[in-house]
Amino acid sequence: MPGQKNPMSEADAARPDKAPSAGAAPQKKIFIKTYGCQMNVYDSSRMADVMAPEGYVDVSSPEEADVVILNTCHIRERAAEKVYSELGRLRDLKADKVSRGEGLIVGVAGCVAQAEGAEMQRRAPVVDIVVGPQSYHRLPGLVARAGNGGRGIVETEFPVEDKFASLPAPERRKTLARGPTAFLTIQEGCDKFCTFCVVPYTRGSEFSRPIARIADEARSLAEAGVREITLLGQNVNAYHGEDENGRAASLGTLIRTLADIDGIERLRYTTSHPRDMDAELIAAHAEVGKLMPYLHLPVQSGSDEILDRMNRQHTAEFYLDIIARVRAARPDIALSSDFIVGFPGETEADFEATLTLIREVGFAQAYSFKYSPRPGTPAATREEQVPEELKAERLQRLQSLLNEQQEAFNKSCAGRTLTVLFDRRGREPGQLVGRSPYLQSVHLDHAPAHLLGEIADVRIEAGFANSLRGRLVASEAAFV
Ligand code: 5AD
Ligand code: SF4
Repeated sequence: MPGQKNPMSEADAARPDKAPSAGAAPQKKIFIKTYGCQMNVYDSSRMADVMAPEGYVDVSSPEEADVVILNTCHIRERAAEKVYSELGRLRDLKADKVSRGEGLIVGVAGCVAQAEGAEMQRRAPVVDIVVGPQSYHRLPGLVARAGNGGRGIVETEFPVEDKFASLPAPERRKTLARGPTAFLTIQEGCDKFCTFCVVPYTRGSEFSRPIARIADEARSLAEAGVREITLLGQNVNAYHGEDENGRAASLGTLIRTLADIDGIERLRYTTSHPRDMDAELIAAHAEVGKLMPYLHLPVQSGSDEILDRMNRQHTAEFYLDIIARVRAARPDIALSSDFIVGFPGETEADFEATLTLIREVGFAQAYSFKYSPRPGTPAATREEQVPEELKAERLQRLQSLLNEQQEAFNKSCAGRTLTVLFDRRGREPGQLVGRSPYLQSVHLDHAPAHLLGEIADVRIEAGFANSLRGRLVASEAAFV
């Protein structure tokens, strides 16, 4: 996909982490490769959790594995194509292993699995198991069936309640936390049916987890050293989970509950829909200090005609009004969005309206894509498809404006002191990298090693296109 990467759709991430060994049981090895959004990253960890009690440890390459699972994304075309080319490689690997008297079980999970079902096995006979996103708690049984020679195993039901109920309790999850930041899925599925989008078909209708279960998981994360939690959902601000009185609670209420947990210093949420930015959530941005001043609020287009054809259920003016209210609540909030260019029927004037909206809002960062027809969605069969070259040209114009805004925002941070949560080592020796409240990457040279996993005040010295550079403020530097 050209252009910026979307964490909700393009963050391919193999999982090199290894779980501890599982007692006396013979060790079997699983490799899970994750494509797409943070939701898939979270799901992959939960798949490792359900396989661990069966004696499976994570390995970092398919060559070492007895079981390979590809956890796939279907949001745009290339992602599915990447899966099929990976399956081609796995076919060769399996043949190799079989010739050495070893076996390999290949499973496909996630949204491509859900969308294509049994068709996957016809196109790629190497696939033993097809398992949709709502059924991964059944993975141990499916793997056992495949191990006993079972063929054509396809599990693509929508028992979403079963899935969360069947996960190991948080304290028994080996993969629960791997650093100071974590994802936590609070909501799944979507009832909005935007005409370009596969999510309502692959993830099913909206489901929210009860507040108490989410709070338990958040407490376990805090105990495991997590300082920042990102709440996940395809339509996260449509959250309406049960509270302790059995009533539906909003995302704003959930955020206030989680903010009371000791150890959790930062909360974020993604991805939201403009229609679901309610007053409680906006008030949380004003009143909950732990809620970071960052909002990813996809608008997709600035043209009312296109928004209508997309079935977005809002206008450009409605979006701008929400932005104004959020900014009134939290003046320094950094805004992010998703854009699609070249939706069927998009004229130059429609596209210009998107550029106008971007100029009006001023985004701190954004993700943008060429429209890609997804089979089974209403927009895919519309006649007025925009030619590829025109989509590419518009994407380039859009991205150069968005990049300009991002760089301007980063540069405007120079001279400020920001709190940074250091979550990884940099490329240079002695360098640590963390996140500002506005989700920018901040590089710190000659950093004391104890800061990894900690939050510290950093004076920003320079802002660049994609990151910031700073130094510790004096009180922190004194600890070096
Ligand atoms: N074509 C292009 N972009 C898409 N997205 C979703 N479906 C499509 C599609 N068919 C983008 C939207 C969404 C983000 C996760 O992916 O911008 O917000
Ligand atoms: Fe897809 Fe629209 Fe639902 Fe977002 S709100 S997941 S774009 S259908």
